[in-house]
Amino acid sequence: MKLVYCSILVLFVGLFSSAQNSYNIIPLPKKLVEQEGAFAFKKGAVITVSNAVFSPVAGFLSERIQAATGSAAVIKSAKSASSGVVFLLNSSLAEEAYMLNVSSKKIVIQAKTGKGAFYAMQSLLQLMPPRIYGSTVSDVALTVPNCAIEDEPRFSYRGLMLDVGRHFFSVDAVKRFIDLMAVYKLNTFHWHLTEDQGWRIEIKKYPLLTSISSIRKESMVGAYDDDKFDNTPYGGFYTQEQIKDVVAYASKKYISIIPEIEMPGHSQALLTAYPKLGSYTDKIYEVATKWGVSEDVLCPREETFTFMEDVLTEVMALFPGQYIHIGGDECPKTQWKHSVFCQDLIKKLGLKDEHELQSYFIRRIDKFVTSHGKKLLGWDEILEGGLSPNAMVMSWRGIKGGVEAAQQNHDVVMSPNNFFYIDYYQADPATEPLAIGGDLPLSKCYSFEPDLPELTADQAKHIVGIQANLWTEYIGTLDLAEYMTYPRALALAEVSWSPKASKNYDNFKTRVKGHLPAMDAMKINYCKAFLTQQ
Ligand code: ACM
Repeated sequence: MKLVYCSILVLFVGLFSSAQNSYNIIPLPKKLVEQEGAFAFKKGAVITVSNAVFSPVAGFLSERIQAATGSAAVIKSAKSASSGVVFLLNSSLAEEAYMLNVSSKKIVIQAKTGKGAFYAMQSLLQLMPPRIYGSTVSDVALTVPNCAIEDEPRFSYRGLMLDVGRHFFSVDAVKRFIDLMAVYKLNTFHWHLTEDQGWRIEIKKYPLLTSISSIRKESMVGAYDDDKFDNTPYGGFYTQEQIKDVVAYASKKYISIIPEIEMPGHSQALLTAYPKLGSYTDKIYEVATKWGVSEDVLCPREETFTFMEDVLTEVMALFPGQYIHIGGDECPKTQWKHSVFCQDLIKKLGLKDEHELQSYFIRRIDKFVTSHGKKLLGWDEILEGGLSPNAMVMSWRGIKGGVEAAQQNHDVVMSPNNFFYIDYYQADPATEPLAIGGDLPLSKCYSFEPDLPELTADQAKHIVGIQANLWTEYIGTLDLAEYMTYPRALALAEVSWSPKASKNYDNFKTRVKGHLPAMDAMKINYCKAFLTQQ
């Protein structure tokens, strides 16, 4: 009842406030009450932190103030203060929750954690003039309209995936991707690190993965059906030092990283360097140059399990988060059907067919990951053969896999292709850069509702959040990656953060429009098609 009241209030406030473009917070806070007046930052403004957990956030805020005004804020430690910005510890709040009170005298941020305070700061920045995101110094006062905000997310998992297999993105590009996620309170970066077309992570025990599997001899150009290639070698990978650097960088922005190591499918690049792990041990493989699903998959021999466990051991040491994504999607069974070894194994294990063999593969890896204190995550195909209770499922073929997983008491991330595959077109293909296909305007992303009638209240608790996926067959630059991601990532942020009762596309669209100058200041290369769409 209280939630409904707050949300109606928020909607009411939002509808009227957005006309003035001064309360354009995205994602929409749970409760926002506008107030008369404004706070104005003065030169040498003081930020007071009552607890050391807030110091990094105060540092970020001071950095922005310095970039926009030419003088940094002064950060002080004290129990409280009567002016400036004050960070107070409020242990009654949830981990990601915050309260933000802006009055003409001071700005008070309350949170239980640095993360909550970080989200308060993101809301505060969005309330400030757009130049707060840029680097042009101006004497015009930075003002913040007075308000009282109480906010916390609807879902704990708010993710974006970047495929660096089809196209490689530099460390700097990945950091920029992470920076922008943080602005919209997204908290999970899913790093798709291995593909048929390229292996992108250094594994010390198996150096050929980077010297051979990370390079393809050429790439497709133009549409898939054109069947044209550029005759230019293409490659790239991250060293373990670079991975550690990105993990630490993301953690400062309260983003955890989930690495994905694909198996048993999407392994053609791996097989190019280590053909003994395939079904035809004397086959000469090459890193895939064509997009699509490769028939070259791992063969479930003991040697393969040892190899993948070695790889995962190094991966688990690099990523402190609890989840390890092992892919599990799109594993064609043709080679297993023709393999004497696989057919014998099916008989020996008393399995019905190759699909049960895939389940056997995933279950073994699941056991390994679980026994090392981590949790397994995979695309919805992994559900087919039974999983350990703490394994999580990422539903990509619509919502069906996610619904089934939740009904079997597995946690679920909803990432349905028809709502959140942001490599799909967002407007008329005739006017857009070449993409993989699909039809996914901003309004469609926003329309996704994770509260599913198929689930009981208890089962619904297993839907931990939502993710959008950026596959990069047709996306070779950061500029284009941002174009495909924004503003659709704003819809992802809002659907995963804001209360269901406040959902209103027109209101969202008005706020996005009001937020465009801020996106311009951040130099985000966003798509403008939504402006002329229904
Ligand atoms: C997928 O799109 N194959 C997960």
